[in-house]
Formats: sequence, C-alpha cells, structure tokens
Amino acid sequence: MKQMELLYEGKSKQIFKTDNPDNVVVRFKDDITAFYDIKRANILNKGRLTCDISSMVLGYLNDNGINTHFIERVDDDGQLCRVVEHVPVEVIVRNVVAGSMAKRLDMEEGIVPENTIFDLCLRRSDLGDPLINDHHAVALGLLSYEELSELYEMSAKINSLVTELYNKAGITVVDFKIEFGRATDGSLVLADELSPDTCRLWDKATGERMDKDRFRRDLGSVGETYEEVAKRLHNALK
Ligand code: TMP
Ligand code: ASP
Repeated sequence: MKQMELLYEGKSKQIFKTDNPDNVVVRFKDDITAFYDIKRANILNKGRLTCDISSMVLGYLNDNGINTHFIERVDDDGQLCRVVEHVPVEVIVRNVVAGSMAKRLDMEEGIVPENTIFDLCLRRSDLGDPLINDHHAVALGLLSYEELSELYEMSAKINSLVTELYNKAGITVVDFKIEFGRATDGSLVLADELSPDTCRLWDKATGERMDKDRFRRDLGSVGETYEEVAKRLHNALK
C-alpha cells in the first residue's frame, strides 16, 4: 500500500488517497477541538492514542460481525480504511444522561434511563449538527425508512459490544457518536472512529471522566487519561 495525496483534512483527522482506489489512509491528529472550534489545543500523542483505541475497538467490532470501514492499523497514527459513500447523519447512542441531553431537557447528569436513547443529527456543522428525526432524514433524501431501522439495529449491536468490552476495562460507556457510510453494494457500514474524542467514558470505580470532557470542561490530564483508556483496553482484549 502506498499513501498518496491528501483528500480531506478535518479538525482531528486527515484522509489520504492510496494506490488502491478502494482504500484510504485515515490519520489521527494531535489537535483537539470542542464547541465547533471555539476551543482548540494540541495534545502530545493524542493522534497515536485515538488511533490505537479506535483500531482496537473497530477491530473488535469487525471480529464480532459488525461491518466497519476499518481494515488495519498501518502505523502509529494511521489506519487503512475502505472507501465508503458517507451518509451525512450522526447517531448518538446514550446509556446514561449527560452532555447536551442533560442540558436540553434540564436533567441531572448520571441518570440511567430504562431504555437506550438514539439521537439522530444532521451533519451540518454550520447549523450546529441539529437534532432531526427519521421523517426529516427520509424527507431530506438521506436514508430510507428501511435503512434507518438497519442503522438503529447496528447502533444497538455496536452499543452492546462496546459496553461489554469497556465493562472489562472497568469503564461505563455513557454515550457515543457514530457515523455511517454505504459500501459499493449499498450496505451500511460503520465509518467513524470510536475513541475518547467521540464517547463519554466514566471510570466505574471513581466516576472520573476518561474522555474529551476533560478538555471541554478544563479538567486537565487529557493525554494521561487517554493513555489509561488505551492501557485498560489492551488488557481487556488480552
Ligand atoms: P452531546 O452530549 O454533546 O450531545 O454528545 C454526546 C456524545 O457524542 C458525546 O460522547 C460526544 C459525542 N459527539 C461527538 O463526538 N461529536 C459531535 O459532533 C457531537 C454533537 C457529539
Ligand atoms: N460538535 C462538537 C464540536 O465540533 C463536538 C464536541 O464538542 O466534541 O466541537
């Protein structure tokens, strides 16, 4: 595999063409941003750590029957991934009330609802990725009702698997955000990272936050905490 020119650069990742038109290299950056770029920093080794964590989680999902874009980790901060047609929605899966849900509905963080909550958002950062529902998604021509039910079914399976894995690491998966793509045969594929940048992870023993909220809320030790998540996941997968 040969890495070729840069195709796209986002806030925390770069995507490069390769000599195989079906594959790209995704590179994880040390940059960290929040609140739509209002808050920015650079965390030493964050790219390596989020690549490490995301590679472990996506490899584990692949091994457990979830179709993902992830093929293999190629080096410290790079992953070889399948090219997919991106679906411009975000699915947020919530096991515990926190973040924007707590704020929007005036609920306390930490409440555990009986059911899993699935939010659907339109991926339009200029609009603040607004919350939409299934009917909006169909009306906007983004997905069919059949695809939406597959999307939620996959999200629920991903949630069960990721929760089980993090349980072994002594960590509660509070919530996470995922995005999907369509493979060449039209099937839906998980096409995103799953790392402390895109999940809320709480230490089961201490309740300590082990995710990007450390950065959003100025709690400090961002890199050290990501390192601890990586270490615990490596042990959980042994
Ligand atoms: P929220 O509480 O801000 O709605 O976020 C819920 C979860 O989704 C949290 O783990 C952070 C993650 N997330 C992203 O990774 N990217 C996003 O653009 C948003 C809105 C949330
Ligand atoms: N959508 C938010 C942003 O782009 C996500 C976050 O705060 O992590 O900043």
